[in-house]
Amino acid sequence: MKLLFKNIKELIQIRDSNTTFVAGKEMGNLPSLKNAFLIVEDGVIADFGKMNDCPNDSFTQTIDATGKILMPTWCDSHTHIVYAGSRETEFVDRLKGKTYEDIAKNGGGILNSAKRLERTTAQDLYTESKLRLDEVIKLGTGAIEIKSGYGLTKDAELKMLRVIKKLQKNYPIEIKVTFLGAHAVPSSYKNKKNEYLKMLIDDVLPIIKKEKLADFIDVFCEEGYFSVSDTHTILKAGKDIGLQGKIHVNQFHSIGGVAAGVENNVLSLDHLEILTDADINSLKNTKTMPVALPSCSFFLGLPYTPARKIINAHLPIALASDYNPGSSPSGNMNFVVATACIKMKMTPEEAINAATINGAYAMNLSNKIGSITKGKLANIMLTKPIQSYAFIPYSFGNNCIEKVFVKGKEILTP
Ligand code: NIG
Ligand code: FE
Repeated sequence: MKLLFKNIKELIQIRDSNTTFVAGKEMGNLPSLKNAFLIVEDGVIADFGKMNDCPNDSFTQTIDATGKILMPTWCDSHTHIVYAGSRETEFVDRLKGKTYEDIAKNGGGILNSAKRLERTTAQDLYTESKLRLDEVIKLGTGAIEIKSGYGLTKDAELKMLRVIKKLQKNYPIEIKVTFLGAHAVPSSYKNKKNEYLKMLIDDVLPIIKKEKLADFIDVFCEEGYFSVSDTHTILKAGKDIGLQGKIHVNQFHSIGGVAAGVENNVLSLDHLEILTDADINSLKNTKTMPVALPSCSFFLGLPYTPARKIINAHLPIALASDYNPGSSPSGNMNFVVATACIKMKMTPEEAINAATINGAYAMNLSNKIGSITKGKLANIMLTKPIQSYAFIPYSFGNNCIEKVFVKGKEILTP
């Protein structure tokens, strides 16, 4: 199978294989070729260049990309797409004045989703989650991380992880699995947080290790959820079975979770809506990727992660959707990129870098995906005819993506 894209108006995000992420000023650079060709062979990017140098071989399929942009698919490094039901009643309660934190304190929020998930069979959970995955792939997501964390019992957490593993087995896109047992303390362990953590560590982690059910470990480090000391405990326990950390931190308060994450060499620090200068300093000279989730800020009316401050400190930043029933019931990465530009003042170049190569890094996948690089997977997408790539965030709410290819195979969009 040899596929040729010819007359590409602009082929963007071209990187050499040594680039695993981009930081600071370099984020403002989006290397590209105008009037280009690209060849896919056996599911990987085999060659690309200027149209003048396009080889005269025979191809199984040729796509004329006149007027269109070809680029890597989005890399969404933070989602919770495996969940049961929805929470629009809480949404309406918030519209009427309740806060997200009030709702959570009264048994809503994560605990509400956990109740629903416990009653849902693995088969139904799979069917429901599959629809969400199909939806985001059609919107251009070609690699995704999915967390547990709505189980909050041994059995329900394992049920979630196994559903994610089944999605991973049945889908051609790259899927990474994160264990987020420490997402909230369940009602059955009310005032017994340490016992809950002990149960996660003693009863759940050994099974995760034995059955290879996760790639990463996560914890919601926040007032009213898990403390900095709990964060150290769970990250260390994860590390002992080979799981690198990716943590929820600084969503509402800066309590020292950033430094704790860095100390534990986490791969990414996610949310960061509230970010102090001390937090920024702890991120310097580390290999940890800060991840912003603008759809969550949009939906909950929270401050946006201060991307300019992060980039001006010569740090990298990635963008992800946080697709979940409570704080971001959308996994549309096109909206994420647009919101990052409109609300966080990221330039289109920065936002596209953040949602491709840097997102890939935040899943340990930048050797495989996230840029136009020979040998990387041909998870690529073609826009509709547009003037320039800045049109993608500019035309927020519209879908500029015409065709999505996963390992060179077209995903049929409606
Ligand atoms: O990333 N902050 C913690 N967890 C999720 C939201 C969970 C929920 O409300 O269901 C988040 O925003
Ligand atoms: Fe999240």
